[in-house]
Amino acid sequence: MLVLGIETSCDETGLALYDSETGLRAHVLHSQVAVHAEYGGVVPELASRDHVRKTLPLLRQVLDEAGARPGAVDGVAYTAGPGLIGALLVGASIGRSLAWAWGVPAVAVHHMEGHLLAPMLEPDPPAFPFVALLVSGGHTQLVRVDGVGHYRILGESLDDAAGEAFDKTAKLLGLGYPGGPAVAREAERGDPERFRFPRPMTDRPGLDFSFSGLKTFALNTLQEVGADARSRADISRAFQDAVVDTLAIKCRRALQETGLQRLVIAGGVGANTALRERLAVIAAEAGGRVYYPRPLFCTDNGAMIAYAGSVRLAAGQHEPLAIEARARWPM
Ligand code: KG4
Ligand code: ZN
Repeated sequence: MLVLGIETSCDETGLALYDSETGLRAHVLHSQVAVHAEYGGVVPELASRDHVRKTLPLLRQVLDEAGARPGAVDGVAYTAGPGLIGALLVGASIGRSLAWAWGVPAVAVHHMEGHLLAPMLEPDPPAFPFVALLVSGGHTQLVRVDGVGHYRILGESLDDAAGEAFDKTAKLLGLGYPGGPAVAREAERGDPERFRFPRPMTDRPGLDFSFSGLKTFALNTLQEVGADARSRADISRAFQDAVVDTLAIKCRRALQETGLQRLVIAGGVGANTALRERLAVIAAEAGGRVYYPRPLFCTDNGAMIAYAGSVRLAAGQHEPLAIEARARWPM
């Protein structure tokens, strides 16, 4: 079964073709970073308009790259939420319409399920059950995954998501958008000893997170010592160390509490090298190992939507003709 995946929930237009027998056939991605950079963050209306401009040209490109005719597509999967509603509606409308025109089923995919299953696109995918740490710009969740569609949220952020905290800290340090990679780059040059940030909510039981205090801590530190290049790097380092440490402590706890040994990291913050290295140690200590998608499939992409859609379609799920997208959608 050949499935077209369409991702337009935020600031990346991603399309991919996944073959349930042979694997990923082709994927293409257009990043809107240049569109939003001068505003210091994603402008929803500009995001929607850019998805309108890019989705059909990218469709032609992904079909060309796979050497596939439209008639070869057996199903269309599109991200139906959560995300920016206007951006989502572009992918949902185009995806639903293509499926109708081609006479094939359409399936609405939950964006976070896409992230969660992205490691399945790699050569050595994790077996079920596992604990997944989902860390993106909008979500920070620990999930027990017993199979496709069998998810139990073990803990989540009560305020800012980890990626959001990276983005806000980058903004106040003047590092621009997108913030995560910028803070990570600065942190590499930073002194780990100069500042110590708190590890929020680690001194009490439970698997929830709170990251909003860290950006305030970064702001106060910045106001105290000034925004010279050295201090920006040192603050980035202290901030990243605090986030990585906090996530690691909760992942260790989640593995202990569930008795599971496999740990999956997914979502944009999963591209962070310091986090990957740290969680590899945590999973090894639990007698297991860590799994993550290649960095390109940690951030938003069409391949994860095509994959999740192919699994859902194989299980018999598909959508009626009405086009629906949801800005909020619990997993
Ligand atoms: O999964 P994603 O592409 O979009 C959402 O579903 O939100 O995640 C984007 C988030 C942004 O907050 C971005 O700053 C963060 O992932 N991010 C990183 C890194 N690369 C992306 N955070 C830390 N380190 C990175 N290397
Ligand atoms: Zn995402």
